[in-house]
Amino acid sequence: MKRKEDNNMITASDKKWVDSVVEKITKKLEVVSERSKDKIPALTRDGVHDDRSMENVDWNIDDGINWWTNGFWGGMMWLMYHETKEERYAEIARVSEEKLDRCFTQYYGLHHDVGFMWLPTAVADYRLTKNGEARRRAMHAANLLAGRFNPVGKFIRAWNDLEGNDTRGWAIIDCLFNIPLLYWATEETNDPRYKQIAMMHADTAMEAFVRPDGSVNHIVEFDPVQGGVVKTYGGQGYAEGSSWTRGQTWALYGFVISYLHTGKQEYLDTAKRVAHYFMANIPEDGIIPVDFRQPKEPAWEDSIAAVVAACGLIEISKIVDEFEKDIYLNAAIKMLKALDESRCNFDLDNDGILQNCTGAYHDPSKHINLTYGDFYFIEAMFKLKGEEFFIW
Ligand code: GLY
Repeated sequence: MKRKEDNNMITASDKKWVDSVVEKITKKLEVVSERSKDKIPALTRDGVHDDRSMENVDWNIDDGINWWTNGFWGGMMWLMYHETKEERYAEIARVSEEKLDRCFTQYYGLHHDVGFMWLPTAVADYRLTKNGEARRRAMHAANLLAGRFNPVGKFIRAWNDLEGNDTRGWAIIDCLFNIPLLYWATEETNDPRYKQIAMMHADTAMEAFVRPDGSVNHIVEFDPVQGGVVKTYGGQGYAEGSSWTRGQTWALYGFVISYLHTGKQEYLDTAKRVAHYFMANIPEDGIIPVDFRQPKEPAWEDSIAAVVAACGLIEISKIVDEFEKDIYLNAAIKMLKALDESRCNFDLDNDGILQNCTGAYHDPSKHINLTYGDFYFIEAMFKLKGEEFFIW
């Protein structure tokens, strides 16, 4: 892994700001973690965390225990454990990890998002504590992910068949955050197959998802038998050919992560290409829309795109030369400051932090708090502090 910590990268006044935000996060999480210690929250309703470990225990329904964001609450707890060294955070993180075992037994509800689910839980646990049970869970998840690889098309299949849709050939840009589970499995076992699959998928993503202007498609459909691109879909963005901002950030940060695990220069070059497209589109006020090509009104936002982009930009700033680094760092800080000023809730009675998160452009509910938004906000702030525990 080529990644480095840098606790000296920001100016003294930015450092003061970072310390004040980290203090607000720590105070809030101390209270909220106690309130939600038995839950696996995905979002807040009227300021209260929901619980995906309780709802919809039918394996066939994707928004219960199999929901793709179910690793993030545990991951947040591991980030806090690393920051504070308080054992209670490890205990709460393990509640999620253990509850997720039900997904392995049920099996059919799982798809490529096993990386999002078990990297912030089991892999994080194993990296921090060497817990053997956590390693077993993570290896199990890695093998499920490897089993979704299509060797002719050289892509990892995203979802299982959706109602009435044949999705055997579908891959999505978000998967760049699942394949670090495969890098981890090779790093852990020395068996090269996992990394080989991850790199073949990342190579396909560079070729088939990234457009000449540096923007990316959300969904690409390949011929599942012959390979080759069949068509693209707008997915969670405004429309086919548009520019779903969170998808841009899964690519931006995702290719950086592939570079960090492999050292392959093209991944970093691609991440920078997407980053430059993204930075050129950041509005004056630093608030990120759901899609860079959406109509001007209504001005729907997605704060999660801002925090994932910030994480990726900070990582790039640590890799590039001294004279280049501020371009990336300043863009990240601009977005994070805008969020801290007007899109964060540090009220101790409310379970969520990051506001104005949007799952998808055409979702009926927009501008809500989603737990993975809080996760990436905290990850970004800890990165700026130079003390982050790297989950990916
Ligand atoms: N990975 C799905 C999403 O970003 O909403």
